[in-house]
Amino acid sequence: MNVAVISCSLHPNSRSYVLARDMAAVLAELDAEVAFHDLREYDLELRGRPGAHETGQAREIANSLRQADAILVAVPIYCFDVNAAAKNLVELTGGAWEGKVVGFLCAAGGRSSYMSVMPLSNSLMLDFRCIIIPRFVYATGEDFENDRAEDMRVGSESIRDRIRELAEAAVRIGGALAAAV
Ligand SMILES: Cc1cc2nc3c(=O)[nH]c(=O)nc-3n(C[C@H](O)[C@H](O)[C@H](O)COP(=O)(O)O)c2cc1C
Repeated sequence: MNVAVISCSLHPNSRSYVLARDMAAVLAELDAEVAFHDLREYDLELRGRPGAHETGQAREIANSLRQADAILVAVPIYCFDVNAAAKNLVELTGGAWEGKVVGFLCAAGGRSSYMSVMPLSNSLMLDFRCIIIPRFVYATGEDFENDRAEDMRVGSESIRDRIRELAEAAVRIGGALAAAV
């Protein structure tokens, strides 16, 4: 069972990175093979520039996504949507998402942006026939201890529970689909 976890925030003390890191740890406990991609470690071009999707880094992530039975995307919510880095990643790696089981972990400033992953979800469903796991993790600053500090961690038990539930759903659904094809 291969799972790709992508941390899409470029913030040096990112909350959604902490969600992604904890997700990777839970997946490892569930005996999944985890490929972890932190977009802060990449220098991806914006899609539309000639050759942007053909750079070594874009191909590296695309190849990793192709190997995955499920993809878990940790995103910051910006302007009632995922951040531009997350959308650009999908624009760069498009076909690698074909038919994948996809789940989301969101960090947001407030509760009212809860449905902000829907535009990207719609695109993944309609363009790439992804199976979206209908169980998001959605956290705000209040859910973290030592928020924005080096040793920031999830403080909310309900968020920890939701990370585990999403991990279990990804392994269950991703594994079932992999066995069926
Ligand atoms: C440009 C920008 C736009 C934002 N837009 C929203 C928004 O629409 N809704 C919201 O709840 N929070 C919004 N926020 C707050 C971020 O979602 C919040 O800081 C979150 O923790 C970012 O994730 P990160 O810490 O992983 O980078 C915005 C922040 C920035 C910088």
